[in-house]
Amino acid sequence: MPTLVNPFFFESPADRWAFTDREELLPLLQHAMGEQGRRMLLYGRRRMGKTSLIQNAARKAKAELLYSDLSTASDLTEAANKLLQAVPEPETGLADKAVKLVRKHFRAIAMTGGKWKLSADLRPASAEANLESVLNYIDDYAGLIDRPVSVCFDEFQDIRTLGGDKAEWKLRGIIQPHRRVNYFFSGSDHRLLPWMTEPRAAFYKQVQPVEVGPIPTEKLATWINERSERGGLTHADFGAEVVALAGPCTGDVVRLAKTVFELRATGKKGSVRDAFDEIALKELHNEFVGLWRPCTSVQRVVLRAIAAGRPPQAADTLHAFGIRSASSAQTAIVSLTDSQLLTRVQDALVFDNPFFCRWVAANAVAGDAKP
Ligand SMILES: Nc1ncnc2c1ncn2[C@@H]1O[C@H](COP(=O)(O)OP(=O)(O)O)[C@@H](O)[C@H]1O
Ligand SMILES: [Mg+2]
Repeated sequence: MPTLVNPFFFESPADRWAFTDREELLPLLQHAMGEQGRRMLLYGRRRMGKTSLIQNAARKAKAELLYSDLSTASDLTEAANKLLQAVPEPETGLADKAVKLVRKHFRAIAMTGGKWKLSADLRPASAEANLESVLNYIDDYAGLIDRPVSVCFDEFQDIRTLGGDKAEWKLRGIIQPHRRVNYFFSGSDHRLLPWMTEPRAAFYKQVQPVEVGPIPTEKLATWINERSERGGLTHADFGAEVVALAGPCTGDVVRLAKTVFELRATGKKGSVRDAFDEIALKELHNEFVGLWRPCTSVQRVVLRAIAAGRPPQAADTLHAFGIRSASSAQTAIVSLTDSQLLTRVQDALVFDNPFFCRWVAANAVAGDAKP
């Protein structure tokens, strides 16, 4: 048998070779990235493919994208520095003007390793001022190079962790005069859409909300089969089953497809369900223990109930699972939803992660639903 190369990966956003579909959303983003002064909010569940979509749209549009993932920054100055360092070198002829712009916008700045860097200053006011200077600089820079520039704040809900409860209002004030730069906000927290777009929200009527939902199941199933065959498997026909088991999030589907491919490529017997259990009960076991451990006992019972397919607030569920009151179940649901362990899909409360759902169900004592 020739060496088979697993064509699936899920650890980082899909690159140009691994990216599929998004036929409706790609043109929308590509178009916006070629314009000026656009503001778009991409929202949708985790692992649906928002980051992959933004990065691939920028690549296809050959657009300048300055990307900052707020969930990985420790403060606003760091987020500002990430953006600053993503600004490409201006072409020859504009270098002097670019340095002048830098001098205009920044006082405390140094060149390290060929890149501008603001000195760390953790006072909230200075951190905000740093972000403001960087964004003002980028708007001027877009004018200098005379090409569209887009800024992306990924996991934008974390702006509140970095800058306080009103942080998005401050940002709105900063970017309002920026007519050249496009801003893309993206995030998976269910609170992000209301935080941004409700009548009293900072960006009410100022951003175009775009939902990044599931890729149609047949398309994804066909893509998995074709890709598996290109990776060297003959008669790959498990795509539909993988999609059905992994659920709507693209990242989960790709992860399961990778493990199924692995099983088949090494000639091991095993169904798609076996691959699913391999991930849920072995590969991710330690991670799930880490999610489970901080949960309160009511939260654990709620998770168990949902994993067992029972509505967590129904009277018979409360009784069967020993939850004393509907209100304590409700409090647990709110915090499990805020921490994104649970999510709502058309009013039904489900696990965000299908593998975690399986893990919770599998670790319940047989015949006893309680933790
Ligand atoms: N359009 C796509 N084509 C192929 N794989 C995708 C696509 N979108 C997402 N993925 C897969 O899903 C994983 C999670 O996607 P990501 O863009 O990080 O999601 P999000 O930003 O919504 O959390 C990626 O690592 C990739 O494996
Ligand atoms: Mg993402």
